[in-house]
Amino acid sequence: MARYHGTPKRGHWSSRLGFIMASAGSAVGLGNIWKFPYITGMHGGGAFVLFFLICIALIGIPLMIAEMVIGRHTHKDPVGAFRTLAGGPWSMVGWLGVTAGFVILSYYCVVAGWAVNYLWLAIKGTFGGGHIQQVPELFSSLLASDLSQLFWQALFMGATIWIVLGGVSDGLERASKLMMPVLFLILIVLTVRGLFSPGGPRALSFLFTPNWRMLDAAAMLEAMGHAFFTLSLGMGAMLTYGSYANERTNIPNVAITVSIMDTCVALLSGIAIFSIVFTYGMAPAAGPGLVFKTLPILFSQMQGGTFVAILFFLLLVFAALTSSISLLEVVVAYYCDEKKWQRRTATLVMGFLIFLLGVPSALSNHLLADVHFIGGRNFLDSIDLVATNYILPLGALFIAIFTGWVMTTRVARGEIEKGTVNFHFYPLWHFLIKYVSPIMVAILFLSKIGLI
Ligand code: PFF
Repeated sequence: MARYHGTPKRGHWSSRLGFIMASAGSAVGLGNIWKFPYITGMHGGGAFVLFFLICIALIGIPLMIAEMVIGRHTHKDPVGAFRTLAGGPWSMVGWLGVTAGFVILSYYCVVAGWAVNYLWLAIKGTFGGGHIQQVPELFSSLLASDLSQLFWQALFMGATIWIVLGGVSDGLERASKLMMPVLFLILIVLTVRGLFSPGGPRALSFLFTPNWRMLDAAAMLEAMGHAFFTLSLGMGAMLTYGSYANERTNIPNVAITVSIMDTCVALLSGIAIFSIVFTYGMAPAAGPGLVFKTLPILFSQMQGGTFVAILFFLLLVFAALTSSISLLEVVVAYYCDEKKWQRRTATLVMGFLIFLLGVPSALSNHLLADVHFIGGRNFLDSIDLVATNYILPLGALFIAIFTGWVMTTRVARGEIEKGTVNFHFYPLWHFLIKYVSPIMVAILFLSKIGLI
């Protein structure tokens, strides 16, 4: 272990491939398969997708490199990393990240629990022929049952805790290396199947033909915000994963590979889902219910629907699990590194507390349906709004400012070039992280809080 870095008790990735798979696992999640298709559908496709790709290239990749650089340079959790590099108020950025991990995981497990429930329904054959009448009601009856939501949430959280208990290489890395290839395989099967279905060509033109009239300010902000969420940026997850990398790892190479993998999964999910939607003449703008309401109806109409449904929900559960473990890891790393807790204690205690915070989210559609928070939203939607619209962009803004303006070129360039000898794109990266990312993220944040 000491061969990799100075703190012998910390975990580390056993290989570069393991680091890539774990980071791609963190990035690829509900955001790609559940959220990206439905927000793309709501914002009219093509132009939104193009702007999203621009955000990934101009802000996402530079920020991922920045987070990994800070993590690998310090080999610490987010709070420890900022304290080591700058101290003072900068430690707050780490704190923001740990809090975001705690909060996001609480409701992420609830939505992932829905996916596990649907996987179970698919295995039972609920989406096979003959049950079409019941399918549209499945989602509302799940949301109306507090107990079953709590059950599936607890099951998913239990799986997350179990993997994180295994440690960095034997838990996070091994789980990601097992699940990610299966995920890619399932996705390819579903995409090819979609492309050859009658709705395939329409799905392609919907996703890739820009309709500029649909690209208003709200769509642009949504695309930018989603770029952070989908790449797990702004809260120290990539920083924490970077802290387990060894000195020989080529960070820009890993960050670019992970971003490309994440983007491909989002686009392929879009193709797979919209092909089915268009084949059956449904509207693409179904909103958050696209995956849980629209698709199951279509599964129940197609030949071999049970099999396709099992594949699809397995894909969703695997994607969610490789992301949830990274959210818990950020919190656990803080308690292990800073508070010197045992990994086992930190994982069990924090996992349980996060589960408790998730309870009101699980109950927010039924028992607590009349309790409203921000703008009349229920608990789950409000907490999601705060985390993804405010905390992540704010975290990303500080990380960009820190890397571009506070970290010295000597440290940043030295760290980036450890695994590459000469990173020709360094001036471009530095320009993007110093000017472009902070300005774009600041615009996003100020508009979210209603100042512009
Ligand atoms: N990137 C994940 C997704 O797309 O579902 C969500 C996520 C995971 C966000 C980890 C932030 C994070 F730290």
